[in-house]
Amino acid sequence: MPVQIAPSILSADFARLADEAAAVSGAADWLHIDVMDNHFVPNLTIGLPVVESLLRHTTLPLDCHLMIDDPDRWAPAYAEAGARNVTIHAEAARAPVRTLREIRAAGARAGLAINPATPVEPCEDLLGEADMLLLMTVEPGFGGQPFLDHVLPKVRRARELVAKHGGSVWLQVDGGVAAGTIERCAEAGADVFVAGSAVYGAPDRAAAVQALRAQAESATARASWPASG
Ligand code: DX5
Ligand code: ZN
Repeated sequence: MPVQIAPSILSADFARLADEAAAVSGAADWLHIDVMDNHFVPNLTIGLPVVESLLRHTTLPLDCHLMIDDPDRWAPAYAEAGARNVTIHAEAARAPVRTLREIRAAGARAGLAINPATPVEPCEDLLGEADMLLLMTVEPGFGGQPFLDHVLPKVRRARELVAKHGGSVWLQVDGGVAAGTIERCAEAGADVFVAGSAVYGAPDRAAAVQALRAQAESATARASWPASG
């Protein structure tokens, strides 16, 4: 699986979202959308109406990361609206198998996210239900936080679990991913990289995406984890 870069619009100018999406559309693989409800996380961002509007203004596939209570109720609508990936948090989902299946049935990829303190091992039995595992490398809620190095051993364990199950599940890292940390993430086994402030805090957003991709690709090439197809 080649390296994929997903700029997070959490660090973009919310009053100019279409322009901010366009700034990375030639360079990025995904546009990462952080949906926060002020309950699951202590921050409030955007919801379905804004996602629906963005879908009309960008050709980038949308990667919706739902940091909300009761994702079982809300997640399928994001997939039905046209999001290409919808990720729910294991800590918030009451019926993750059913919800992941509903996301897939609506035509999107299904992602399962876990916070820094949540172990990955209990997710092993759900790997067949998910297309992507998201390992948070900060506590969810805000952009611009420092990367949590202690998540890296979990990224390695997650890569081993994914490899054991055929290697088709993507492994995404989110939080504090930047020039100084992305290589460690790639070496540990991540293959999809969310970057908010590292992209939208840069003067040239597309160049920032390209630089992160180059770093991740060279780190992946020297990594010991089994690359998958
Ligand atoms: C945090 C969000 C992230 C955030 C990352 O809860 O899930 O996607 O935008 O921002 P940076 O890359 O600045 O840490
Ligand atoms: Zn996110």
